[in-house]
Amino acid sequence: MFQNSAEFRILMMSTSRAWTVAAFFFMWLFGSSLLVGAQNGITDPIEVRALQDIKRSLIDTNKNLSNWNRGDPCTSNWTGVLCFNTTQDDGYLHVRELQLLDMNLSGTLSPELGRLSRLKILDFMWNSLSGSIPKEIGNIASLELLLLNGNHLTGPLPEELGYLPNLDRIQIDENNISGPIPRSFANLNKTKHFHMNNNSISGQIPPELASLPYLVHFLLDNNNLSGYLPPELSRMPNLTILQLDNNNFDGTTIPDTYGTMSKLLKLSLRNCHLQGPIPDLSRIPHLGYLDLSSNQLNGTIPTNQLSQDITTFDLSNNELTGSIPANFSGLPNLQILSLANNSLNGSISSFLWQNKTLNATESLTLDLENNMLTNISGSINLPPNVTLWLKGNPVCENDDLSLNQLCGSRSQNDTRSPSTTNSTTACPPQSCPFPYEYSPTSNISCFCAAPLLVGYRLKSPGLSDFPPYRIRFEEYLTSGLQVDFHQLYIDSLVWEEGPRLKMYLKLYPIYNASGNERNMFSRSEVSRIRSMFTGWLIPDSDIFGPYELLNFTLLDIYREVPVTTSKSGISTGAVIGIVLGGIAVAVTLSAVVTLLILRVGLKNYRVVSKQRRTSKASMKIDGVKSFTYAELAMATNNFNSSTQVGQGGYGKVYRGNMADGMVVAIKRAQEGSLQGEKEFLTEIQLLSRLHHRNLVSLIGYCDEEGEQMLVYEFMSNGTLRDHLSAKSKEPLSFAMRLRVSLGSAKGILYLHTEADPPIFHRDIKASNILLDSKFTAKVADFGLSRLAPVPDVEGAMPTHVSTVVKGTPGYLDPEYFLTHKLTDKSDVYSLGVVFLELLTGMQPISHGKNIVREVNVAYHSGMIFSVVDGRMGSYPSECVEKFVTLALKCCQDETDPRPSMADVVRELENIWLMMPESEIGVPESIDTVPEKMTPPSSSSMVKNPYVSSDVSGSDLVSGVIPTITPR
Ligand SMILES: *[C@@H]1O[C@H](CO)[C@@H](O)[C@H](O)[C@H]1NC(C)=O
Ligand SMILES: *[C@@H]1O[C@H](CO)[C@@H](O)[C@H](O)[C@H]1NC(C)=O
Ligand SMILES: *[C@@H]1O[C@H](CO)[C@@H](O)[C@H](O)[C@H]1NC(C)=O
Repeated sequence: MFQNSAEFRILMMSTSRAWTVAAFFFMWLFGSSLLVGAQNGITDPIEVRALQDIKRSLIDTNKNLSNWNRGDPCTSNWTGVLCFNTTQDDGYLHVRELQLLDMNLSGTLSPELGRLSRLKILDFMWNSLSGSIPKEIGNIASLELLLLNGNHLTGPLPEELGYLPNLDRIQIDENNISGPIPRSFANLNKTKHFHMNNNSISGQIPPELASLPYLVHFLLDNNNLSGYLPPELSRMPNLTILQLDNNNFDGTTIPDTYGTMSKLLKLSLRNCHLQGPIPDLSRIPHLGYLDLSSNQLNGTIPTNQLSQDITTFDLSNNELTGSIPANFSGLPNLQILSLANNSLNGSISSFLWQNKTLNATESLTLDLENNMLTNISGSINLPPNVTLWLKGNPVCENDDLSLNQLCGSRSQNDTRSPSTTNSTTACPPQSCPFPYEYSPTSNISCFCAAPLLVGYRLKSPGLSDFPPYRIRFEEYLTSGLQVDFHQLYIDSLVWEEGPRLKMYLKLYPIYNASGNERNMFSRSEVSRIRSMFTGWLIPDSDIFGPYELLNFTLLDIYREVPVTTSKSGISTGAVIGIVLGGIAVAVTLSAVVTLLILRVGLKNYRVVSKQRRTSKASMKIDGVKSFTYAELAMATNNFNSSTQVGQGGYGKVYRGNMADGMVVAIKRAQEGSLQGEKEFLTEIQLLSRLHHRNLVSLIGYCDEEGEQMLVYEFMSNGTLRDHLSAKSKEPLSFAMRLRVSLGSAKGILYLHTEADPPIFHRDIKASNILLDSKFTAKVADFGLSRLAPVPDVEGAMPTHVSTVVKGTPGYLDPEYFLTHKLTDKSDVYSLGVVFLELLTGMQPISHGKNIVREVNVAYHSGMIFSVVDGRMGSYPSECVEKFVTLALKCCQDETDPRPSMADVVRELENIWLMMPESEIGVPESIDTVPEKMTPPSSSSMVKNPYVSSDVSGSDLVSGVIPTITPR
């Protein structure tokens, strides 16, 4: 992703500003569909099913995941599902990130998570999940970030997690996880972050963890760890933070080796029941924060010179004796020195504060309360911003009035730095309409801007007092986010137990002089910034330590960005999801790149299209659009082979991404298939009038000299043939096969009965039946069919069309083959073959075997279930029996005994009604069609919403259902 953002910046810099603005505006408007357009293919069906299971085990009170049943996860922008933006080696799209931060989800984590086999980021932070962490997560070899912090998870840490070879970060803090740290975690060779604080993890820290080569942050504070502190941990070459506060190490000592950790920045072992001496810490070159308070440490304080980086040195509440060494003087960054509640004696040297010069934001607190310190050597004139606490020492027993204040009690409000932040803005009192506001940090002018709100927490900071580091922090965060320094404003900050520093941040868009006065972030910028936070792409800082993302809130104006073609009923959560979850940075970038390429390309195509004279008779045909060659060339990257999705006798079929974001299928006639211009336009005119939900609809055409192309709606689930092939990962259930059969039959029936003049398809086959995102069957390729016969002048209806035999072997009506007489029953035969394919999963002809003959043999020997496709799972046998009977009836050699297409539809509807309700309840995303799929329990067909199709065709069917009997 870094690489991408670098490319992004270069791209942006090398492009004219006007174009940049135009590109963003364009994306803003058409973002959703454009981005979908940038994704070719469909999600791996295994992952689709896994996502459905994951959702089922969650309780989604706020309905954030309500769009997790519409369309394809990757191409229909399921909330929080981010995918790789191109198909992977196996031809599928795969889920790359599951980002479900702060969505008020409860319920449990499904073991099916383990099936998201290419996942890199699993983020369920700050929800209310219960149950345990499924061990199946250990199967996701690609997993980099496991983010489960801030839930109510219980149970142990599965040992399987230790075998995640690419895990960078494990965050399970703030749950109720119990049991020990599995020894297998010593295998996490790439892991940099163990964040497991605030759980109930128990037992010994496995010394084997010392072999972790990249571990930088080891946060296990607030658990029930026991045993001893393994001296071996000092061997971790990259450890910078070791934080184990509030555990119980049973009176063991701090290993002396801990004084030799060369990279250590923070050591926090507060309240760990530790005894014995303090190791010599002067050997840690950059130690910045030391907290060994509230133990039973004894002996004296080591006297060697400490690191100049030390900000915090807390040895309070121990049993230390001896005097205060001189090495605490001259530490430029020291903010807190606490030696309170020990048994230190001797005098207090004014070296501690004498040469201290602090600026207005800096401060130094010296807490020496409750010791046995007897006097002060040197001047007691404290410099500004230095505080000294002496109460409870013998030195306070003198009647020295000058010590009164130092020996007094602290006032209540002397805690850590206040939570207010002040800003000086020269802008007039707010006059921006809500939710716009003046950016408080802008150095440009007073302009109204809509901020992003970010809940953020420094989890283990290396400092105790923030104000001196404020600017450094702002620089760190803005450069990490790749935004301007002035875009960040710290709205509030508060120290929490830990100590952790919680902040509310506001990020403002940059001033855009060319826009109107109200500035907003572009969508792509919103998603870029969010993914910087959620992907932990902001580099770690030594002093600020690791950060936590608590929430990332969008003001309503960011949520209400219109999403093209979505209905108004979509929940706010879903829209956020679409805006946020659905837009991967990479996708966005590729869209920009595409636009740029297209723009460059446009110039070339213009030249081309000048040579291709547009049709003289450029006629207007209602309902379809006339495209230019250049438009379609652009949509297909100049008919690049990577966009080719099919090939038929007519020519090649390409997938096109139109400029308005629509994805289309473009059928381009090859030489030899070109028709006369008049015939071509006549055919389009005919096709433009055909509208049925089970027919692929024609969107437009291109008729330029030497080119004839048809532009159809794009079917995201490909051909039925693909789904029946052995390679298909998610086989269709019987209910779905039945539905596909019925849909196909209705589409063909419409061609036979409603088209005027009627159309015989002539080439029905599994690869001409396409499935849309909802797996609705749509018949394709009827456009090039020969028209059915029309009554002659006298009204006599010829019963067939005599023509050259065309069609596909295996589907071909034998009678048509023999007689060259094409009738509607020829389509019935071919569809019957498709039914047999659906039933058996076999090809019409394979290894010299003909599907019709094979099934007939099985049928007549009573072995029909032996040829049923085993991959379709359980099925109601009576329905399957009726279905095979119908199919074989269609595939009879003679024309006459075959049922008509109307009979076929009717019989399929009957079978559908026999289906048990439980069988119809197939996975949501697959079966969410406008109609409710549940058939009525009564025999009344009128009420069956499936039967009452939105197009009149099948409803007009009447007639007697033939009794279908096997031969
Ligand atoms: C972690 O646990 C400690 C001790 O129980 C508690 O004081 C602190 O508030 C907890 N921190 C968080 C962030 O929950
Ligand atoms: C020292 O002990 C006293 C009394 O137990 C306690 O009130 C005070 O907070 C302790 N000081 C520190 C810095 O922990
Ligand atoms: C502090 O006390 C020690 C012995 O208790 C004494 O030697 C020293 O002179 C005293 N210093 C001051 C400045 O009072």
